[in-house]
Amino acid sequence: MLDLAGKVALVTGAGSVGPGWGNGKATAVLLARQGAAVFALDNVPAAVEETAGLIAAEGGTCTTHTCDMLVAEAVEAAVAACLARFGRIDILINNVGGSHPGGPADMPEEVWDRQIDFNLKTPFLGCKYVLPVMERQGAGAIVNISSVAGLRMGTGRVHTAYSASKAGVIAFSKSVAMGYARKGIRCNTVVPGLMHTPLVEHRLVGQLGANDAEALIARRNNSVPMGKMGSGWDIAHAVLFLVSDEAKYITGTEIVVDGGFTAAGPV
Ligand SMILES: NC(=O)c1ccc[n+]([C@@H]2O[C@H](COP(=O)([O-])OP(=O)(O)OC[C@H]3O[C@@H](n4cnc5c(N)ncnc54)[C@H](O)[C@@H]3O)[C@@H](O)[C@H]2O)c1
Repeated sequence: MLDLAGKVALVTGAGSVGPGWGNGKATAVLLARQGAAVFALDNVPAAVEETAGLIAAEGGTCTTHTCDMLVAEAVEAAVAACLARFGRIDILINNVGGSHPGGPADMPEEVWDRQIDFNLKTPFLGCKYVLPVMERQGAGAIVNISSVAGLRMGTGRVHTAYSASKAGVIAFSKSVAMGYARKGIRCNTVVPGLMHTPLVEHRLVGQLGANDAEALIARRNNSVPMGKMGSGWDIAHAVLFLVSDEAKYITGTEIVVDGGFTAAGPV
């Protein structure tokens, strides 16, 4: 079940911004546990080395590569390096992204541009250079990481560029899926809800929590119908299913991993 032996997985943003388990880090470790050889990309070498160390300690295979997913030449070079190391790419996880608060009137144009690039151009560049490889192979599975911010607008917090770009990720995945459905390549989206990844302590506490981590965590837990935030592992397990052969008839769709947050609607 969910066996990835013999497969090569390229995971972007495979580190974490702080101690603990981010979505990309947990995904890289889980895919390796299932037998995939992981090519782990991050723009922070120490972050991705930590992931590689964890995989190596469990007896898995992981090669790291430093790459800014916003730079086309760097992404092209990373894909070439993955091919040089492993000879193929079966799985692509486009995980890089993040939010910046604000609406159109108060958001500087460069912040808007940066958000669209960070969340939407990064999966575009990943797909741009990996799809031709998968097409030559006649097979491949891609998962792009979106956010419930692209599905459901809260009343308390506005992050227009993040919502627009993460909604764009869902449409982008469907469009890629349609273009490659007859070429053996599947493309889907995982949509995380409120996850307790290192990002919460690293950035959100300052941005949203008036530097009171305990209060912010309690607030986030309370706003989820299941009463708690999810973890990077919840995202990793959804990704694993979608890239596995068990999901071979699933393309152009999304799995929402949010403890019921989207179904509940605004509170
Ligand atoms: N954490 C949440 O609550 C949450 C909720 C919804 C969606 N998401 C989405 O999940 C994804 C991962 O979130 P996370 O909190 O696990 O990530 P994170 O902020 O911990 O970042 C993961 C890694 O990405 C790397 N990275 C950042 N910019 C990069 C770049 N330009 N090129 C290469 N690597 C880069 C960082 O160095 C880090 O190691 C993002 O797309 C995010 O929008 C997260």
